[in-house]
Amino acid sequence: MDKIVINGGKKLEGEVSISGSKNAALPIIVGVLLSSGKTRLENIPHLKDIDTILEVIRYLGAKADFIDRHTLEIDGKNLDKEIAPYNLVKTMRASFLVIAPLLARLGKAKVSLPGGCAIGARPVNFHIKGLKQLGVDIEVEEGYVIAKTKGLRGAKIYLDFPSVGATENLIIAACLAKGETIIENAACEPEIEDLINFLSLMGAKIEGVGKNVIHIQGVNKLNPVNYKIIPDRIETGTFMIAAGITKGRIKINNAVPGHNEALEKKLLEVGMDISKGKDYFLVKGDGILKAVDIKTMPYPGFPTDIQAQMMALMTVTPGKSVVNETVFENRFMHVSELNRMGAKIEVNGHQAIVEGVPYLSGAPVLASDLRASGALILAGLVAKGRTEIKRVYHLDRGYENIEKKFSLLGAEIRREKDIDLF
Ligand code: UD1
Repeated sequence: MDKIVINGGKKLEGEVSISGSKNAALPIIVGVLLSSGKTRLENIPHLKDIDTILEVIRYLGAKADFIDRHTLEIDGKNLDKEIAPYNLVKTMRASFLVIAPLLARLGKAKVSLPGGCAIGARPVNFHIKGLKQLGVDIEVEEGYVIAKTKGLRGAKIYLDFPSVGATENLIIAACLAKGETIIENAACEPEIEDLINFLSLMGAKIEGVGKNVIHIQGVNKLNPVNYKIIPDRIETGTFMIAAGITKGRIKINNAVPGHNEALEKKLLEVGMDISKGKDYFLVKGDGILKAVDIKTMPYPGFPTDIQAQMMALMTVTPGKSVVNETVFENRFMHVSELNRMGAKIEVNGHQAIVEGVPYLSGAPVLASDLRASGALILAGLVAKGRTEIKRVYHLDRGYENIEKKFSLLGAEIRREKDIDLF
């Protein structure tokens, strides 16, 4: 296993190019399975989670090959196996989405329940409730969701919470269903917009891009297409915060500034200087910064996937910051590690109170989940001395080439083999 080693204290300066969005790519790769024939997806990030979903869809009978580093060709023609086993679904929750094309194409699916996750229980009850309304018989047996349908049919579905995964699952399932599906209280994250744009290009009839009510008119067939995935807004946000925490200046290219408005507003409130163009942010963190409060919410609210990184910034920003996590029940695992580096954070249920300290000190720390790893890198970049981040596989799930990108901005950061077993 690898670890990331950082000697902190360098001001980051220069330009960075953002990779394709992991969370947009995953459901789109699954969506391809609704069609037969070769679909070409561009701007696919090179990440462990992408490898995992490709392993799942290949297991189900699809063909998937990279034709260059970021371009993927998928053909779902031979989709013929309805079982997605535990060992493939357990590591990544998004694998559960394959249930939708399996039901649409084969009328049956047996998909393992996704494993528990470090950031909370993350059940799939909204997915199951919605699929039942679309005419699917579902039983849960021995850790598997066993589903069959004589034909998906449109329905009016109200989601009790705007779950990203459930919205994506139901959109994919509804494309080939008979009649109209209406999803109310749907999530409207940019990744869902990307999925809708992709499916529409394939021939799906979907209205409500970026809205919380989505109308889908079922069609008989979808066609293969060429499509380019949007840039990753969480990676973009991580680099915006990196400019603040290192008091540097970073031009973030290949971004969609409109996807990061909640964060942009917060960072302006913190006192950072941000300008932007059509596809870039220029972010400066060399002014006087002050603490702000944060409350995570579904989009367009402040993203839970940026909460940990923002908290890292607050640890060294003068003043007191109150961080409320409302999306996940257990997303403060980075706190104990940040505290080991000298941060002053107290957690009380869904709330963390961060008292800004003059400096952090480098330390060996453990990454507990993907975005927590991002927060620990940011903390390591500003800390005095050497930080070692272990369990880097979390980072590799969702940040492409991160140590290379940071080192090009002037950070002293490298990947090493971790021979320490404990
Ligand atoms: C997606 C993102 C993840 C992000 C999250 C929230 C991907 C691959 N992952 O995850 O990075 O942090 O959105 O923005 O896109 N819930 C239920 N029952 C369900 C479904 C969800 O109770 O059936 C709960 C979850 O436990 C969680 C909340 O709803 O507390 C939000 O989950 P959801 O929006 O579904 O997140 P994911 O799709 O798993």
